[in-house]
Amino acid sequence: MARVLVRGAGIVGLAVAEELQRRGHVVLVVDPAPGSGASHAAAGMLAPGSEVWWGEEGLLALTLRSAALWPAYAARLGVPLHRAGTLLVGHDRGDLQDVERQVALLRSLGGTATLLDRAALRRAEPSLGRVAGGALLPDDRAGDPRRVVAALRARVRVEPAATGWDHDVAVVATGARLPPPHAHLVRGVRGEVLRLRTDDPPRHVVRGWVAGEPVYVVPRPREPGAPDPGVEVVVGATSEEHDGPPVVTAGGVARLLEAARVLLPGLDRAELVEATARDRPTSADHLPLVGPAPPADGPVPAVPVVLAAGHFRHGVLLAPLTARLVADHLATGHVEPLLDPRRTDHHARTDPEERHAPPHRQR
Ligand code: GLY
Repeated sequence: MARVLVRGAGIVGLAVAEELQRRGHVVLVVDPAPGSGASHAAAGMLAPGSEVWWGEEGLLALTLRSAALWPAYAARLGVPLHRAGTLLVGHDRGDLQDVERQVALLRSLGGTATLLDRAALRRAEPSLGRVAGGALLPDDRAGDPRRVVAALRARVRVEPAATGWDHDVAVVATGARLPPPHAHLVRGVRGEVLRLRTDDPPRHVVRGWVAGEPVYVVPRPREPGAPDPGVEVVVGATSEEHDGPPVVTAGGVARLLEAARVLLPGLDRAELVEATARDRPTSADHLPLVGPAPPADGPVPAVPVVLAAGHFRHGVLLAPLTARLVADHLATGHVEPLLDPRRTDHHARTDPEERHAPPHRQR
């Protein structure tokens, strides 16, 4: 068994730490501001179907694997899941084409989605505003990342610094800001997210497009016995490549609120509780980096370094699988080929123009 230092107490670092500890390793997590990065903003969609994109068949296989782990994982951590499924809806005819394209893609990859006309959508979700049509994705669920982070923090040792702590292996899970010499492997893609409080939440996760503007609305489960009839709904998210700090912008808030209120007019009366912006940790090819760090210029590290980074839009969904992959790697040396961080060594040696995958469509 090893002594492992995990850098980063976001959902990925904490999940890795907890899994390693369950397997008998001695683990310290180091983070001066635990749970304050992307996990703090994340809506918590466990959404392999509505997040999959063209060319991502391999990633879909992994997100489906991790989605299958979530019910037992959440139950073990004592965190509720939203299980009613996701309605993917289009406000106008053009938006409906986006829905139909997503459904066709998901079905072509073996996923499940049922197209619904307006009447069927209204029956399923009476709080919907005017939409042209949509689909039910029964396997796209949601959980509250802040509660998951709190549950994981209660199970592992988290300190602000690693002063005087010897370790055999280091795991780097510091989200959108990796330490040197790995910093160049991940960049930030800003996401702005709103938290509302309403006594009229949708039954389903509702996501879709309004005149081309993507939006999702994620209701939290009602707390049994809570005196307040209101529940939190999370409205997200903008997506923007940028170089500055991830601040909330007036335009981002306005676009999110406008689109969400078109899909769910009852949100007009909701209390606006919070607006948050964080960077999604994004690798050059939009795939996570899970496994041994690629060789870097400079001194050879004193201990092996394993990355658990670059999860882009899928950090919450992929947290339990990432934890297993890192723990399996320490046990057997196995690395999931699609996620092997050493692929970036190849990128570094190819034409710089080829380094970045095409930008993702806004989802
Ligand atoms: N997974 C949703 C988002 O990144 O906005």
